[in-house]
Amino acid sequence: MSGIKWCLLVAALLAAGCNRTSPEVVKAELVSLQACEEMARDGLRPIAASRDQRFLGKVQNSTALCRGGNGAVQFHSAPWVDWGNYWGAGDARSKAPDFVKQAGHLGPTQRGIDGALLDLEYERIELIKFNLFDNNGTYKDYVLGRNGVGGPALKTWKEMRLPSTNTNYSLVGGAGEQVCKGELIRHRNVSGICNDTFNPLMGSSGQLFARNVAFDTTFPDQGRTNLTKNRHGDRLSLMRPDPQVISRRLFTRQQSNPGKCNGGYGLPGFSKDADCDYKKAPFFNVLAAFWIQFMTHDWFSHLDEGHNQAEYMTVGCTSQKLNGNEKPLSPEDVKNLGCRPGDQIDKAYIADSSDPKTFSKDGKTESERAPKTFRNNVTAWWDASQIYGYDDRSRMRVKRDPKDPARLLLPAVTGRAAAGDPQGYLPTLASSDPMNPEWAGQEAVAFPDNFSVGISFYHNLFAREHNAFVDEFRKQTGRTPDEDSGLRNPITPARVIRYRDVTPDELFEAARLVVAAEIAKIHTIEWTPQLLYDEPLYLGMNANWSGLLGDHAPQVSEALRQIVSWSFGTSKDVKKATQWYSVFASGPGIFGLGSRVYADDPVLALIDPNKKDTWDISNPQHVNGGVNHFGSPFNFPEEFVTVYRLHALVPDLLEYRDLAAPNEIKNKIPVVETFQAKATEATRSRGLSNWALTMGRQRLGLLALGNSPQFLQNLKIPRLNSATQMIDVTALDLIRDRERGVPRFNEFRRQYGLRQLTSFDDFVDQHLPADSSDKADQQKLAATLREVYGQHLCDATKIITDAQRNEDQSPINDCLGHPTGTMVDNVEDVDTVVGWLAESTRPHGFAISETQFVVFILNASRRLYSDRFFTSSFRPEFYTRLGLDWVLNNGPGPAQMEKGTPNGHSQPVSPLKRVLLRTMPELAPELSTVVNAFDPWARDRGEYYSLEWKPRPGADSDEAFRKR
Ligand code: HEM
Repeated sequence: MSGIKWCLLVAALLAAGCNRTSPEVVKAELVSLQACEEMARDGLRPIAASRDQRFLGKVQNSTALCRGGNGAVQFHSAPWVDWGNYWGAGDARSKAPDFVKQAGHLGPTQRGIDGALLDLEYERIELIKFNLFDNNGTYKDYVLGRNGVGGPALKTWKEMRLPSTNTNYSLVGGAGEQVCKGELIRHRNVSGICNDTFNPLMGSSGQLFARNVAFDTTFPDQGRTNLTKNRHGDRLSLMRPDPQVISRRLFTRQQSNPGKCNGGYGLPGFSKDADCDYKKAPFFNVLAAFWIQFMTHDWFSHLDEGHNQAEYMTVGCTSQKLNGNEKPLSPEDVKNLGCRPGDQIDKAYIADSSDPKTFSKDGKTESERAPKTFRNNVTAWWDASQIYGYDDRSRMRVKRDPKDPARLLLPAVTGRAAAGDPQGYLPTLASSDPMNPEWAGQEAVAFPDNFSVGISFYHNLFAREHNAFVDEFRKQTGRTPDEDSGLRNPITPARVIRYRDVTPDELFEAARLVVAAEIAKIHTIEWTPQLLYDEPLYLGMNANWSGLLGDHAPQVSEALRQIVSWSFGTSKDVKKATQWYSVFASGPGIFGLGSRVYADDPVLALIDPNKKDTWDISNPQHVNGGVNHFGSPFNFPEEFVTVYRLHALVPDLLEYRDLAAPNEIKNKIPVVETFQAKATEATRSRGLSNWALTMGRQRLGLLALGNSPQFLQNLKIPRLNSATQMIDVTALDLIRDRERGVPRFNEFRRQYGLRQLTSFDDFVDQHLPADSSDKADQQKLAATLREVYGQHLCDATKIITDAQRNEDQSPINDCLGHPTGTMVDNVEDVDTVVGWLAESTRPHGFAISETQFVVFILNASRRLYSDRFFTSSFRPEFYTRLGLDWVLNNGPGPAQMEKGTPNGHSQPVSPLKRVLLRTMPELAPELSTVVNAFDPWARDRGEYYSLEWKPRPGADSDEAFRKR
């Protein structure tokens, strides 16, 4: 900021508030304004040139002072990112005093929020630059480039061609150039091929999971490099430290009355006297827990039809650390811990464990892939494959209505008489359907694994939504049979397809596109802003979808869209194709990028009222032009699966209510009593809308240590060929990550550009007052971590990483800043899931930790950037006109606006609320006060991102509010 502007601002501030504000507050603001000037003089931070010079989410002192005053500077030395301490990033207390509000974007609150968004953009740019590691053989090109084009600007890869064994091989061009066309580009193909028309295989079922971390940091227990050997010594193996011991000591939900919980199995008759303690998140409901499980079933699966390999392995409960040494467990230890040495599980599938090829760059040898690779057995696209299928086998489980094959089959259930119930319920799997025998009796859905009433709920909900769209389309056909539906067939692109011409198959596939896009929208602008409940993330997530500019400057958004897609997107310049692309896309948002093309200069064309959109379905560049993979084919990385191991979200008991008396808890129904076929029985016998109410009102489990569902530690799995036929899913989470070579927590953070921890005490939240009971609990936890993972005598000559350096630029060594020869915590060995659950320092309203969040920043945006149906193919030619409007307006007709301005924003009625109201009109009274369907329905949201747990008017008698 120039000196003159600064003086003007100070004058304005003083004029605005000097007679209402204490001199201390004015002085503090002046100090932080001075810091702003210093920050402005230094200019914007350059993007790191090498991975060891990354931003780490830590700004200069002056920047912290400018954006958050002393409150931000105070926590500057902690490992955690700075922006959570900026003004405006918390609840109402984080906002600037009234007297400086008038200063708009120069005022402190806005400086804090803008600063947070800028920090997040830096993180995203660096993540795109440093964290893409494809396992399919393209990594060498990514590093070395090809034919004079830098790797990150490459757009096609031979590894993404269809193999000759694929039935569509010749259709896409066989051995010649492969480009998808005709029928193959019209909709989301069941196996996921031809989403990217120039890379037909990308994201399809059975492709390899990618990595976000350097290949040589994976499989740390193999000690493949000196750095990993130095980092972990010989302390790690698949079963060391013992996963069941970790589960019992660090994950178990302690019960004040174990008899009433009964290991998560509750009391007979679903008595409401049952009780299982769990740590609750006040601003997030159980619907949100099952939502994310429902999402993961769409995105990835290591299992194939619910199976792993046929070969079994034991899963620990054999040893624990005593004074840093591994000691066998005695029978008494086993009894005290409650673990089971007899448990066994089937080993994970491995795609390739042969030695990877290597190449060299600048004298450094690199691997072409990780030492082992694994397949994603479903499509990686956000294509609602859990509903519609991901291969021919799963598609056979999807039942269409013989009376109108555009619809899904949803027969009515006798006895169900709520207003939405005539829309029906999913049928159960037929004995002729391909399935794992355990699934018998469950609803017929494409992805039936780990079914419970929560998953059953969402399948029924979106099947109803699918039919709601088809029904509306049929009504429109009745009204305007001869009008252009918008749909086109690329084989005969000039032929107008009228409403009456649309075939049932075409309509079915258009409905799939609509439902998948609605789901992506709900996740992006409804689920995530409630998961990360603060203003920067509200703005950030809406920016991902519809841009930071929103509806305020449609022409500018449109111009940016053109520049991003047709200038940066096609550029062979690495910086333009990646960094510039990502930064400028934040203006208009990712959704719809490249879906309009103007013939002349894109910016001038916008001023021209007669400008013509020349997007053309017969032009492959138009169909595909909006996607950007940033030089690395899209698939999820193993590290993404790790941070979605969210089992702690699930409560043991569901507080069942019905709409006749919503404030009353009628039963406590164990989640485990709704497992597999019991889910279907529960959904049907009690009704979809009563389950909506039940899960909408109840708080979900906090993602924290000491909060794993009891039933998941003791899950009965009859298919298992073991003595106990039980498994501790929490322990299994650790084992699977180890099998897949996920780096341990500290290196994981370094790889993602976050600061390392130097002892278990770093997990204790420094924001808490010294005498707080939460702090005492966290200190106890740090002590238990020390016992479970141990300590060792450190050796400062051992360098442990090349991902980062100390602040003085010296290499990071085994002592992590402590004197050589002293005992240091084995913080390097902590399993990543344990680490992120232990993070108690989090930005305001974060239901997840910052380590998980950084993984999402990268992969959640890529999921949109890479998918042409969310970018250049978000067009009526594929979705139909009705479909396009349905996605944009959250249903038929014009957008509906929410009452008032929740958290200061005027906003449309949220997309999931609209789906709930359409599919279950009986929820209308309950939802009348709900703004975000994932916020507990009877909670008073208070003002500006309040996390308080208090009832809204009318829910005062709800007994859930009597408990903390
Ligand atoms: C009734 C509730 C649930 C049950 C019974 C359940 C059960 C399981 C089991 C048995 C596995 C292990 C599969 C294996 O590797 O052999 C698993 C994996 C997993 N679960 Fe859950 N789960 C539940 C809820 C959730 C929720 C709410 C989430 C939230 C996202 C979740 C996310 C995951 C993930 C990410 C995996 C790894 C999947 C993979 O490797 O592809 N689960 N679950």
